Formats: sequence, C-alpha cells, structure tokens
Amino acid sequence: MGQKKLIKFAAIKEYENVLEYPQGMPGKWNSFFENLAIGPYPISLDDLAVVKSHTPTQTPVKPLTLELACGRGEYAVGLARMFPDQNFLGLDVKGNRIWKGASIANKEVIKNVAFVRTQIEQAIQYFSKEEVNEIWITFPDPQLRLSKAKKRLTHPQFLRLYQQFLKPGGSVHLKTDSPNLFEFTMAVIKLFDLTLVKQSEDIYGEQNIDPRCAIKTYYEGLNIAGSNRIHYIEFKIDKELPKAKDEILKEIIAAFEVTETHDAKRERGIKPIN
Ligand SMILES: C[S@@+](CC[C@H](N)C(=O)[O-])C[C@H]1O[C@@H](n2cnc3c(N)ncnc32)[C@H](O)[C@@H]1O
Repeated sequence: MGQKKLIKFAAIKEYENVLEYPQGMPGKWNSFFENLAIGPYPISLDDLAVVKSHTPTQTPVKPLTLELACGRGEYAVGLARMFPDQNFLGLDVKGNRIWKGASIANKEVIKNVAFVRTQIEQAIQYFSKEEVNEIWITFPDPQLRLSKAKKRLTHPQFLRLYQQFLKPGGSVHLKTDSPNLFEFTMAVIKLFDLTLVKQSEDIYGEQNIDPRCAIKTYYEGLNIAGSNRIHYIEFKIDKELPKAKDEILKEIIAAFEVTETHDAKRERGIKPIN
C-alpha cells in the first residue's frame, strides 16, 4: 500500500468526524452531532443518548441526510455548508477518499457533517427505523454487467435496505452520468410504482436548477461515461417492494443495450486516480 494512503488511514483514525464500522449507533446520531459541535472530546459512542422516533425530546432532533458511496464527500460537505441546521453523513468503504471530505470539514470547522467507513450493505447496523430523512447517491459505479445488477445502489435489494431506516416520505436523489443506470432506476421506479418526484436527463440544461443539484463531485468531473449530460432522479420508496418482482426486473433489464460510447468505458476498467 502506498505511503500516502497509509498516512490518510492513520489520520482518519484520529478524526472525531470519521467513524470506522462503529458499533451501537442506531438512534444516536443526533446526540453524536451535538457532541461533535461542542464536545466533550473524545466522543464516547457508548455514552451517547438514544433518540427514538416518535418520542418527544427536549431539544429538536435535526434532520439527518446520508450520502451513500460518498467518495470524497463533496455532497455531504456541500450540503452541510448549505444547511447548517441539518446533519449529514457520508458513507464509503474507502478510507483514503473519506479522508478528503473529513479533512475539508475539519479545516473549515463544519460540525454538521461526518463520515462512516463501511460497506453500504451494512448500513442497517447504523440507523434506527426512520432515523434518516433523505439519501443522496452521486455517481455510483453503474455496474453495467447484468450479473452485477444487484450491486447497483438503486436495485430493489438496496431500496429494501434503505426503507428500513428512511422516514416515510423521505426522498432518494440519484445523480449519474450513466444513461444506463438512469434507465435502470426509472425501470425500478415504474415496476414498483414508486413516487417519482423529478427526473432529468440533463440537469444542467434545466432552468432554475435546485442549488443542491449544482454541487459537483470528483467523479462528475471525470465524465467517465462520456455522455456529457448529467442525469438526475428524485423518488420516494413509498411502496412495498415484493421480492417476486425482482425476477420481472431481471427480464426488463436484460433488454437494455450497453453501448461502447457510453458507460461501457467504465466496464473496460478506466481507472481514475484517487
Ligand atoms: C464512482 S465512485 C463515486 C464517488 C463520489 N460519489 C463521487 O461522485 O465522486 C464510487 C464510490 O462508491 C464506493 N463504493 C462502491 N461500492 C460500495 C459499497 N458497497 N459500500 C461502500 N462504498 C462503496 C467506492 O469506494 C467509491 O468511492
């Protein structure tokens, strides 16, 4: 492993705003962010108060938004700057990428953003029912091969996972340069009859763009898919997602064409620098 990566891994172990595979966190995020803002340090995760949804509390519980597969965490940090009265958590498995966002937050003293190093598949371990208000997924790997469709972060298998901690009515936002991931997600929304709030095949071509959509990420800048258009979807996971329908989805997506000029480049292994 490179020296730079080792230095970043060592640094995040000392950061109060990075937790690696934390235990016993469901219900504690509001209290974690209160501690992050004012101390005491180091934060003792065991001593944090648990806030149960629907239980009245003395202090208002701040909305919590997740950025999944956050990489360097541009959305988590950018949204935290925009909404100082809300809390933001970036999740990613790669500590050296998280280091970037966490370092920026530390430098700018932004106390309403933090990062969890983990696999998204384990997310249910970290949140209680209805603890999360919104989810952003920005430029995730499109996992174009059919055999990898279940790894797409908008596959119903993942949506069932998010549903366990997302508040009813909470939105999922997807921003992607992959036309195929966009079509796939639209197919999922249609098949499961989920509420589509907004869709755009060219978000920067829209008038009056939502300032949240204008935050740019590292991968966005790489334009790996070469599509030159950024796709955006906001939807709600507001219906049951019967597993039986996954088989129908398989048949629908088998018909999707993967073109060489679009995201197939990713599948050929064009590797961005960290
Ligand atoms: C293409 S990058 C996008 C990063 C960032 N959102 C951006 O736009 O720059 C995909 C990220 O997803 C992370 N990732 C992929 N699968 C994951 C998983 N199952 N759990 C956690 N992170 C994952 C990778 O580590 C990587 O940082």
